[in-house]
Amino acid sequence: MDPRRILLAISGGIAAYKTPELVRALRRAGHEVRCALTPEAERFVAPLSLQAVSGQSVRRDLFDPGEEGEIDHIGLADHADLVLVAPCTANLMAKMAQGLADDLVSTVLLATRAPVLIAPAMNLNMWSHPATRENLACLKARGVFVVGPEKGELACGWEGQGRMSDPATIVAAAEACLGSKALEGERVLVTAGGTAEPIDAVRSITNRSSGKMGFAIAAEAYRRGAEVVLVAGVTNLETPFGVRRIDVESARQMRQAVLDEFETATIVIKAAAVADFRPAR
Ligand SMILES: Cc1cc2nc3c(=O)[nH]c(=O)nc-3n(C[C@H](O)[C@H](O)[C@H](O)COP(=O)(O)O)c2cc1C
Repeated sequence: MDPRRILLAISGGIAAYKTPELVRALRRAGHEVRCALTPEAERFVAPLSLQAVSGQSVRRDLFDPGEEGEIDHIGLADHADLVLVAPCTANLMAKMAQGLADDLVSTVLLATRAPVLIAPAMNLNMWSHPATRENLACLKARGVFVVGPEKGELACGWEGQGRMSDPATIVAAAEACLGSKALEGERVLVTAGGTAEPIDAVRSITNRSSGKMGFAIAAEAYRRGAEVVLVAGVTNLETPFGVRRIDVESARQMRQAVLDEFETATIVIKAAAVADFRPAR
């Protein structure tokens, strides 16, 4: 994709320590990255590290005459093709939902007309709190894009949903938000992975298909603006950002899922490894 200007807004969650890696991944993908931090974010990641990996001065203070002189907060908001908030704290989600503008990051988020993508990361109780659920619904309704959070071990030692997505997933999501829209208006149906044919309630005959090709096709079709339905057989792969997934196991289930979606699809790509035989029962 053509190089784009991404403003990475970093708020004060523990996952902020991963943002230099995220900056590097975005730059490896060819994009220009500027960083803006909330005051709390600075407790988790050093601005100097971000400056070194982004190759750009880092913005932190709305009222610093030096920083504002270089590129003011409206210029910063206006300059970006995409504002990516990673990690996005529960606090910042609440501020965005309310339209607060009491620091540099929240002010830029109110001033920008670029697409906004957030990568929330927090303790799972904060994520499942009704206030956060309502703020999330409000932001989505306004067109804010969301990537993650993922399930796994959290920095607080808990296990559950709340981890910031990994850099590769965030880069893919950012590119989907920015992407060329050559497939806009298309509805792409993709099948992927192997099927498993039951012998009895416990055993089945399956194959070694990874599902990677179909999943990559689905991700790319979404990035190019299509609405994508992915009928997934037996695979452990993560659902690509923005893609609707239907999980199936047997060839018969896959056939039914495809037939259910077929009428409204404009493009069908069958990348699944479907079993040739079904045990007689
Ligand atoms: C060690 C530590 C880790 C934290 N991690 C998170 C986090 O992952 N997600 C979150 O929403 N808040 C987290 N917080 C709370 C935020 O730092 C706090 O809500 C802060 O006000 C956020 O400010 P900001 O949204 O302006 O950056 C953490 C606090 C501490 C002390």
